[in-house]
Amino acid sequence: MEKLTSNFIRNKYLEFFKEKGHTIIPSASLIPENDPTVLFTTAGMHPLVPYLLGEKHPQGTRLVDVQKCLRTADIESIGDATHCTFLEMLGNWSLGDYFKDESIEWSYEFLTSPKWLNIDPKRIYYTVFEGDDVCPKDMISYNKWLELGVSKDHIYFLPKENNWWGPAGETGPCGPDTEIFYDTLKPKCSENCSPACDCGKYVEIWNNVFMEYNKLVDGSLVQLKQKNVDTGMGLERLFSTLLDAKSVYDTELFKNTINKLEELSNKNHTDKQYEKSFRIIADHIRTAVFVLGDERSVVPSNTDQGYVLRRIIRRMIRHLKNIGITENVLPELAIIVINDYCDWYPELKKKQEFIVSELNKEEMTFNRTITQGIREFNKQVEKLTNTTIPGEVAFKLFDTFGFPIEFTTEMAAEKGITVDLEGYKKCYLEHQEKSRKGAEQKFKGGLSDNSVETTRLHTTTHILHECLRKVLGTDVAQNGSNITAERLRFDFSFGRKMTAEELKKVEEMVNEVISSNLDVICEEMSVEEAKEKGAIGLFENKYGERVKVYSIGDFSKEICGGPHVKNTNEIRNFKIQKEEASSAGVRRIKATISK
Ligand code: ALA
Repeated sequence: MEKLTSNFIRNKYLEFFKEKGHTIIPSASLIPENDPTVLFTTAGMHPLVPYLLGEKHPQGTRLVDVQKCLRTADIESIGDATHCTFLEMLGNWSLGDYFKDESIEWSYEFLTSPKWLNIDPKRIYYTVFEGDDVCPKDMISYNKWLELGVSKDHIYFLPKENNWWGPAGETGPCGPDTEIFYDTLKPKCSENCSPACDCGKYVEIWNNVFMEYNKLVDGSLVQLKQKNVDTGMGLERLFSTLLDAKSVYDTELFKNTINKLEELSNKNHTDKQYEKSFRIIADHIRTAVFVLGDERSVVPSNTDQGYVLRRIIRRMIRHLKNIGITENVLPELAIIVINDYCDWYPELKKKQEFIVSELNKEEMTFNRTITQGIREFNKQVEKLTNTTIPGEVAFKLFDTFGFPIEFTTEMAAEKGITVDLEGYKKCYLEHQEKSRKGAEQKFKGGLSDNSVETTRLHTTTHILHECLRKVLGTDVAQNGSNITAERLRFDFSFGRKMTAEELKKVEEMVNEVISSNLDVICEEMSVEEAKEKGAIGLFENKYGERVKVYSIGDFSKEICGGPHVKNTNEIRNFKIQKEEASSAGVRRIKATISK
């Protein structure tokens, strides 16, 4: 076998599924387009939601890719052997094409065949859905594993909490799954030790989801028009599994970063006292680089994606201090990550300057709030009538000054006082509850929402895009779009505030186009043809494949997945509500139409 590298695995996976009739598609952006329900792309299936629901995909019904994903839900687990916030997900899909039999057979072949990964079948275990009121026990998957030669004691039936996946947001495609685990050969944690337990003996490496349901807003499940397969295999886990490495951090994916940190800190990453901090830094710098280096710009801020990025960078700075590094080493670390990954993700190299400058800015801002926070801390300590800092104060230091609770307890200990940790936890949970509710509010609209309102706004966004190019010049390019049932939000590159006249002109032009009763048509063509025909949109597709191009009369031609209205007469009364800065060189328009 060739040398086991991450590129070897990525290439083998794509090649295997290509042989099985799949088209290789490029990774979508980490920042979902047109989907306010989630902040980041959390799974390979996420950009494919419309197609799992039945839209026709221009690349066909069998797809394979390596998708950039970010899972903030896992942030507390970072530091263990297997979790990462950013991860690369190998995935293959059937959009109403093959189902359980082929999916399971190919997974088995890819993992165990000497021609492919050649994993010893004795070390692989499987879990299958045990069934509930809605969905029957999955005997098809069970029997298929048996047919392939898997012995019964390697297969476990588990309930919904283990063997069900999706939807990615609150609503959308989901279904039972069969999961594949690798035995690390660690001793069993108890007699009942199985793939269901998280002691670390069995590591989940691949998940085959059989998406045949759509979860609706009221929580009910209905059969989808088509039966789909969605699989996901984290590259990091697979790689460390194949190497029998101690953790994902002991692979080439993180090695250069870890080595640099050892050199800078003069500490050993395997030293129990520092192991977690080393892993957190290595994970977080990689995530920060991929978020900053994404095709759609995000910068640290106090909301949405920007807030996640900020939290990750600050947490990393704190852990750098934990291992004794107090100077700003973020640029140095970022460049290591960029060099390690730019072959597969060339966008990182292109954005190197931006990545480094944003990391530097955030480091400076955090250093400033550290000073202010320490002042606030001292003021609060002076006010104390006993020796315990109240939970609300600790929470304020966290919330307003970005002070992790560990900073506060450490400083308190130096003064011989304590922190009311219970009180802090209570404030924290209350705050979480509030933001959870806030997040739920957002779970309207999104990729799984093809309601009349969002479809109309989707077409309106194309018209707006073209009008902006007509009024402000063709340098205007889409930077992001986000649609809810209530409004559209469109980010575009443009260097200054728009004047009142320009806004009026754009608004009038959009309304004029709308009232011209233009037909909206969809054609499929190659990327090259789309370019020739002057279509605009993100030409991020690397493999020369086919795309959908939506034309609105002769007015606009744009690459897009849809859906759209059939004629602009389905839209009325476009109104710009706001024009503001989104980030440096990027403006944002919020606009509405009549219902
Ligand atoms: N969507 C499934 C997952 O992410 C495959 O595990």
